[in-house]
Amino acid sequence: MTSSNYQGLNTELPDPIRWEGDKVTIIDQTQLPHKETFLTSKNYRDVCEWIKSLRIRGAPSIGIAAAYAAALAAFELDSHNEIDRKLDRALNEIHDTRPTAVNIRNVLTRLRKLNLDGKAVGEVFLGEANKIFAEEVESCRKIGRFGLELVPDKAVILTHCHAGGLATGGYGTAIGVIRAAHEAGKDVMVIVDETRPLLQGARLTAYELQKLGIKFRLIVDSASGIAMKKFKVDLVVTGADRIAANGDTANKIGTYNLSVLCKEHKIPFYIAAPGSSFDITAKSGEDIPIEERSADEITRFQTCRTAPENVPVYAPAFDISPADNIAAFITERGIIRKPFGENIARMIG
Ligand code: MRU
Repeated sequence: MTSSNYQGLNTELPDPIRWEGDKVTIIDQTQLPHKETFLTSKNYRDVCEWIKSLRIRGAPSIGIAAAYAAALAAFELDSHNEIDRKLDRALNEIHDTRPTAVNIRNVLTRLRKLNLDGKAVGEVFLGEANKIFAEEVESCRKIGRFGLELVPDKAVILTHCHAGGLATGGYGTAIGVIRAAHEAGKDVMVIVDETRPLLQGARLTAYELQKLGIKFRLIVDSASGIAMKKFKVDLVVTGADRIAANGDTANKIGTYNLSVLCKEHKIPFYIAAPGSSFDITAKSGEDIPIEERSADEITRFQTCRTAPENVPVYAPAFDISPADNIAAFITERGIIRKPFGENIARMIG
């Protein structure tokens, strides 16, 4: 694996991931916003480590990374005889990197269904990975366009975590809606939750909005209630890691709280997500696995310990917003409204 660092940040938004020749390159999201560090590797195990450690993160982006990891694993095969054992083992390893975002599973299922008879598996997987990448970016643009009708001409929009270009292959889902509104000339102001404990809002959403020239204010997560009142928030929009058949939605921890606050304040709560983030095999949020992360993410603030030694910790990385709290889903196929069960089955299933 090699690493390179651009001193002096670009004004352009970097690509989250690229394939060049026989290697994959990502921007290390854990180093943002201060350093734009790029990591390059030919080894799928490195890509697995990048996904686990959140160097690449966000549901669609980890789906794309998983597809390129599968291509790298396939290029390691010496013969077709190794597809059953060696490739299968590698695909399982890739699958197990992070459990909540369904994009990884959806991508691997798609690759496993490809016809490999007599073909060079690496090339077949690489071709499909490139297709998946292009589709995700195209989906974001469509999500942005469909979302336009939900954004008033002068709008205050609150968002949580980071669902921008870095998280999605490019352009963004929740940020895509905000970006499309801004590009259409709407007067948009964004309230950005910092998103404890790993600060994806403060580090990444703020970084992207600043580069895009979109007005925003950063708040601590617990200020979202008072901010809804003070700034008269018109809508809340977030991304998703997995959407069940009934519309229950897993997203970054704290999203559920926001969905409840929206109900209290009568603010529409929207989820912007591509079809690749739906899991129609999950009947409800009960069927969605929730990743728990290391206690260190809560007991430390970067290198500084903030909690006493040996405190018991509960560190879920995601929570479930009940379908009932969600006003609509903004997808690349259009806006999905209630009744969700029926409409998700019709538009996604
Ligand atoms: O743990 P993370 O940073 O990967 O969590 C990401 C989120 O929760 C995002 O909101 C979600 O993946 C949507 S990205 C378009």
